[in-house]
This record gives sequence, C-alpha cells and structure tokens, in this order.
Amino acid sequence: MGRQSLGLASRQVDLLITVTNFFRDAMVFERLERQILPELLKRKAAGDNIRAWSVGCATGEEAYSLAMLLIEATSAMDSPQNLQVFASDLHEQSLAKAREGFYPGDIESDVNPERLKRFFERESGGYRIRKEVRELVVFAPHNLLGDPPFSKLDLIVCRNVMIYLQRDVQRDVIDLFHYSLLPDGVLVLGTSETIDSGDLFHVDEKKLSIYRRRNVPAPEPRLPVFPLSRSRRTRGQDVPIVASLPEYRTLHQAIIERCGPPSVLVSPDDKLVHLTELAGRFLSVPGGEITQNIFKLIREELRMELRAVIHDARKRSAVQHSRAISITCDTRSMSRWLRKPGEDGSRSFSL
Ligand SMILES: C[S@@+](CC[C@H](N)C(=O)[O-])C[C@H]1O[C@@H](n2cnc3c(N)ncnc32)[C@H](O)[C@@H]1O
Repeated sequence: MGRQSLGLASRQVDLLITVTNFFRDAMVFERLERQILPELLKRKAAGDNIRAWSVGCATGEEAYSLAMLLIEATSAMDSPQNLQVFASDLHEQSLAKAREGFYPGDIESDVNPERLKRFFERESGGYRIRKEVRELVVFAPHNLLGDPPFSKLDLIVCRNVMIYLQRDVQRDVIDLFHYSLLPDGVLVLGTSETIDSGDLFHVDEKKLSIYRRRNVPAPEPRLPVFPLSRSRRTRGQDVPIVASLPEYRTLHQAIIERCGPPSVLVSPDDKLVHLTELAGRFLSVPGGEITQNIFKLIREELRMELRAVIHDARKRSAVQHSRAISITCDTRSMSRWLRKPGEDGSRSFSL
C-alpha cells in the first residue's frame, strides 16, 4: 500500500478518511437523476459510451449510486448507450470492500425501498449489490496525485477528496479534470468544495458544486505529486486508463528509474516533484497539512545533510556528494547532481 511506501504512520491514516454513503447529499444525486444524466444521454447515440469516474470512491457507495441512476435512466430504452463507471481510490482495503459490494442493514436510511429491492439482494446482516450493478463498475487503485487520469469522460464525481489537498495541488487536479472530460463534460465536487478559477469550468449549480467543462484549450496537465499505484496495474479489469504505446525515450527513462538507485527530483523552490519507485523509503510524511517540501518529507536522519548538500550544489552549480549516513532500514549515501543550465527547462532542478 502506498501509505507504507511513503512511510505513513497510523496517525496519518486520518488523511484517508473513507466515510461515505449511498446517495450522499440527496439533492446532488436528485440533480444528477433529473437533469444532468438525462441531458448527457440525450447527446449520445445508441451504443455510444457514457463514461463516468468516481474519484476517491472509498467503499464504493458513490460509484454504485451513479451506476443505479444510469441503469434507471437507460432501462426503458430499446438500444441504450454503453455504460461505464470507473471508480478509484488509493486505499486498497476500501476498494476490496467496494468490490465485495456487501453493506450493513443501515443503508436502508440512504437507499429507498424500491432501489433496495431492485439493486440489492438481502443477506444475513445486510445487503449485497446485484451483479447487474456490480458489472457496470470497474474499481481501480489510483492515486489522483500521480497516476495518469482516466480520459474521454462525460462525468467526474470527485466529492470530499479535494478538502485534503493544498490549494496549488487542487489547481493541478482541476487542470487534470479539464483534460479528462469530453467537451461539455460535468464535474461534481463535494458541497463544501469549490473551483477557484473560472477559466476551465463554469458553474452549473453553485450550491451543489456542479461545474461544466468550458470548451477552451488548456495546457497538458501535469501530474501533481506522488505516483503510488504504478506497480499494481496488472490485474485484468483493474487496469486503468489512458493506453498508448510509450515513446522509446519515455520507456528508457522508466527502465532507468526502476533499475537505477532511488532518487527524487527537487524543484528550485524545494518541492519534491517526482520520485522513483523505491525512493519512498527515504521519506516520511509528517502529520498536518499535506506538503511537497522536500525538507519536511525527507527522513529526519537525512535532513541536515540533504540541506547542506543541496545548498552547496546550488551555490557551486556542480555535483556534490554527501557523507554516508546510516539509517534504520539501510545504509546509503546521498548525492546530488545539479544539471548544468540547458535549453530543455531542466535547469536548477536537483536530483
Ligand atoms: C471522505 S472519502 C469520500 C468518499 C466519497 N467520494 C464521498 O464523497 O462520499 C475520501 C476518499 O478519498 C480518498 N483519497 C484521498 N486522497 C486520494 C488520492 N490522492 N487519490 C485517490 N484517492 C484519494 C480516500 O482514500 C478516501 O477514500
């Protein structure tokens, strides 16, 4: 689990609060049912794909709620559209529960009797989601802050996830959603979450935090922070996302990353912007607000030495080596390489 690779301790588990409900905030789902989904379906021909993404789906209630609404909206059609609900989270245990699709009896307060009967089977101690709904939803481990996003989407529902992110990271995520949505695609955030800038989205319903993608060109989004789930994308239908053949340069880079010594890339303003797969062992995420600052993320034993070596390398514009430092899991020496100013925008970054 990514938490371990980033050295997350139990006190940080509250970062990953996974509380959720079916049809959470009923007015939002009513709006989806009455207006957003019918409009969306009207724009599509029979057999076209309708693609929705539940981001930070926790134990699956949100994704299954969407799937139920989509089934209801299309079940009277002779030739319905092809429905796909992607649901992702970085919390593996929640995803396992979501795939199981078994929920305690108290969901009766969130799911009306008609839907309970149609979409669930009664079992001892609770309700199990029926195959018809389960088969519509693809659950995938995915870190919003580092893994490539799903694309060509009609609807993104990302509720009560942004509240955990710093403002500048939220902005990157919004760019990402703009990139992932089709023209006129809809974005639904949590009711206490908003979009700062109106460049990429306009407000559809402020009170419900529903936004529509503006059809304006936007720069290729960058993936904000930590790629955690890369190594887990191997299991059949759990495989996300944007598939394309890698360029040789990218492939070469990826192999070097995997086989070379662990490293992190640090921006001129001390932000950790990229890390190789095994570099997480040198980091420890502190409690409090999420940070990208390398000096806060680096393990305490390494902090002073790293500060000194980065300072020297920046001052001298040259490669600097640190002394070897023994840490509890391993013995490593750190070194830093400052790339000579180049034409490719890489100047001043530190490895
Ligand atoms: C409070 S729950 C929200 C569940 C559901 N969306 C809702 O509103 O009811 C937040 C979820 O976001 C997930 N999460 C937090 N940071 C994430 C990230 N960077 N990538 C993917 N999921 C993340 C957590 O694991 C958790 O399951």
